[in-house]
Amino acid sequence: MRGMPERIQLKTPEQIASMRSAGLVVAQALSAMRAAVAPGVTTADLDAVARQVLRDAGATSSFLGYHGYPAVICASVNDRVVHGIPSDTEKLAEGDLISIDFGAVVDGWHGDSAISVPVGPVAPEVAALSAACEASMWDGLAAARAGGRLTDISHAVETSIRAAGPYGIVAGYGGHGIGSEMHMAPHILNYGRPGKGPRLAPGMALAIEPMVTLGSRATEELDDGWTVVTVDGMWAAHWEHTVAILDDGPWVLTAEDGGRAQLAARGVDLSAQAA
Ligand code: MF3
Ligand code: CO
Repeated sequence: MRGMPERIQLKTPEQIASMRSAGLVVAQALSAMRAAVAPGVTTADLDAVARQVLRDAGATSSFLGYHGYPAVICASVNDRVVHGIPSDTEKLAEGDLISIDFGAVVDGWHGDSAISVPVGPVAPEVAALSAACEASMWDGLAAARAGGRLTDISHAVETSIRAAGPYGIVAGYGGHGIGSEMHMAPHILNYGRPGKGPRLAPGMALAIEPMVTLGSRATEELDDGWTVVTVDGMWAAHWEHTVAILDDGPWVLTAEDGGRAQLAARGVDLSAQAA
């Protein structure tokens, strides 16, 4: 209905358990790809690593065939922000920063996560950019609490990035609801005033994904219809996790430890929650 916000899917504990299974496949694939990153490796090589993890797990890809998308990962190097298509001619070089984004489906339920990985040693400002982006994701995840409001997450992400340095916070793109589809309501901006939007409730699941640049926040899409690059050519970082909102706190489904370590460092006590 025009002007009416789409409702946010609520999952049963069993459905969230399936999302956890998908999340663990995603975590495993990203860790295998992280280990495979090296100078001379192509982004298509990384896609092949992820396909093998999917086969071994008996899971399917969230990305392959999504609006015609031709691969199981997005590989976005340097000034590419998100949605880079893997290629067997794109070789990683020392000093690059690659965002690897991956989604898996188990029993019809999705998990979606992204990491930014340095290729060997990178410039200190590039390492700092990625660290600021990752920390802002965790600050957003820590704000994914029942009883709060959607833009509490947006605000936590923005506040975190602004405290870290004069970075560009990519405009227009953001996180999303996730569950029986990869992209569901609501859209989650990585900036904004707190206390707005729908109230967060147990059973919701969200993908939180800040995109941060060393320059301006402006991006454009390449002629391939997918790849998003910075307009000014400055490098970008991108991190993402899928989180379920439970009664007793956030459960980061795509993190092996459920997010415990990073959330505890932010004062979120999950001692009552099963691991
Ligand atoms: N994982 C991306 C996101 O977080 C989506 C990838 S688009 C696809 O929104 F086409 F590659 F699937
Ligand atoms: Co996503």
